Amino acid sequence: MLAVLRISYNLFYYACGRDAAIRGRFCMKKALKIVVIVLALGFVILQFFRIDKVNPPINAADTLEAAVEVPPDIQIILGRSCNDCHSNTTIYPWYANIQPSAWYVKDHIDDGRRHLNFSIFNTYPLSKKQKKLSELCEQVRSEEMPLPAYLWIHRDAKMRPGDAEALCSWTNTAIAALEKASSN
Ligand code: HEC
Repeated sequence: MLAVLRISYNLFYYACGRDAAIRGRFCMKKALKIVVIVLALGFVILQFFRIDKVNPPINAADTLEAAVEVPPDIQIILGRSCNDCHSNTTIYPWYANIQPSAWYVKDHIDDGRRHLNFSIFNTYPLSKKQKKLSELCEQVRSEEMPLPAYLWIHRDAKMRPGDAEALCSWTNTAIAALEKASSN
């Protein structure tokens, strides 16, 4: 984007000359036209950069469900509000087909999966599993998750009354169950 602005500026300079102010409105119009053309061109060129939208494969033995019991009501909340960024079952929104928003989407998904990926949850060591579950509860309670930017467009991903408490009560149970299973 910076490069585009720079090119626009240079074109303006060459089109209007150093004493553009004296020439007045005509040159301003011409310069604006050039800026618009350059921005439009930049936008078109950006569209050639596609993101990789192929979900990584899922191995059933590696998933959250293989590690802990996930009741249907919890599945529904996670599926509705979290899985697009925290699993390998991402459904890409329409704006993932348009740049530069596609990069923005991809960035959130990569970052989200790096921090917590339900599809490979069972590959985490015990302490990491427990830590991630307790963070999950904290993040929804403090309303940091789902990411606010995601909710602008995914309106039904918004947490409903009672969702955060249901998730926290489930994570507490799951953390205890993991503890118990490991000490057996
Ligand atoms: C639009 C993508 C997106 C959605 C939807 C989303 N997250 Fe996140 N999540 C992220 C990103 C990106 C990070 C890492 C950066 C950060 O912490 O802000 C993150 C971080 C987290 C973390 C912190 C993990 C750590 O290691 O600190 C937890 C826990 C979490 N999310 C849980 C959830 C839960 C639960 C939901 C659903 C209620 C959810 N997220 C929905 C993108 C998302």
